[in-house]
Amino acid sequence: MEKVILTGDRPTGRLHIGHYVGSLRRRVELQNSGEFDKIFIMIADAQALTDNFDNPEKVRQNILEVALDYLAVGLDPEKSTLFVQSQVPELTELTFYYMNLVTVSRVQRNPTVKAEIQLRNFEASIPVGFFCYPISQASDITAFRATVVPVGEDQEPMLEQCREIVHKFNSVYGETLTMPEIMLPDTKAAMRLPGTDGKAKMSKSLGNCIYLADDAKTVKQKVMNMYTDPQHLKVSDPGHIEGNTVFTYLDVFCRPEHFEKYWPDYKNLDEVKEHYKRGGLGDVKVKKFLLNVMEEELAPIRARRHEFEQNLDYVYDVLKKGCETARERAAETMKDVRHAMRIDYFETDDMLREQKEKYGQN
Ligand code: TRP
Repeated sequence: MEKVILTGDRPTGRLHIGHYVGSLRRRVELQNSGEFDKIFIMIADAQALTDNFDNPEKVRQNILEVALDYLAVGLDPEKSTLFVQSQVPELTELTFYYMNLVTVSRVQRNPTVKAEIQLRNFEASIPVGFFCYPISQASDITAFRATVVPVGEDQEPMLEQCREIVHKFNSVYGETLTMPEIMLPDTKAAMRLPGTDGKAKMSKSLGNCIYLADDAKTVKQKVMNMYTDPQHLKVSDPGHIEGNTVFTYLDVFCRPEHFEKYWPDYKNLDEVKEHYKRGGLGDVKVKKFLLNVMEEELAPIRARRHEFEQNLDYVYDVLKKGCETARERAAETMKDVRHAMRIDYFETDDMLREQKEKYGQN
């Protein structure tokens, strides 16, 4: 069977290192593994509009920003199709038919939807479009006949809902849709990077992000101001590792070879942690090391982003071509769906023939 990846991001802001660690880094590995026949990476603008319908300019402003981030981390248009959701109208069409296969109470039980309704104070008046976005997400996945959907753990309920829709569709209309599998991030540390303020989630509204587009000076400032252990006041005080953002980041970014290069006083991260816990190791030293370690990964991304920023015509063209490729793929699925649902009236003249027979004409 064909191995196909589909995944994407809402373009409500530039992408940050939380996105990078949680998903982008993995996507690039998967892309370069050569194990997949097709890879589709979607800028989910239609989904972004479900809770930003009154701010389309924000969404528009971020289409090319996200594309720049994609290219900067190493997504390669030769290997992955980068496209924009709204430019594939088949996705909306599919959503309309999938709506018949899902109950209101089922969507209401979707934990991600529940959480987002609270977050947005939608309780009393949930826009129908927003309410239906899990169904639309099932269209995104199935339209491309994705077999693998690499996403963060917060998207698990969406995949579950999608799988139910596939199951339902296939049992009602016959085997048509491909059943997708979720692919979660591989290590616990990579699952979710906290904000620089120590809050669980890195998010634009909290102002605690490090963006892929941030320059070296900004990253330095953000790292040097990072939340650590509030009880670690003097260097000689014993320090705590748990909940200490600097160490959480080190768990994610640091590799053994970094010590020889940037901090030969220690052999590995465990030694640093032991010293910190014992007391006698100051935050500034650890932060400087973290900065070096992070910069090793972020500097090349920043440099590539800068190159693409000087070449926006190319970026624009990549997206435009990607949308055409994506649309062809979705249209093929739509054709199968129309056939399965018996609404392919004009593909053949079967309907006409049947009607004629009914009326005794041959
Ligand atoms: N909901 C995803 C997010 O918020 C974005 C998304 C939209 C997506 N459609 C998708 C992810 C389909 C994977 C598959 O990040």
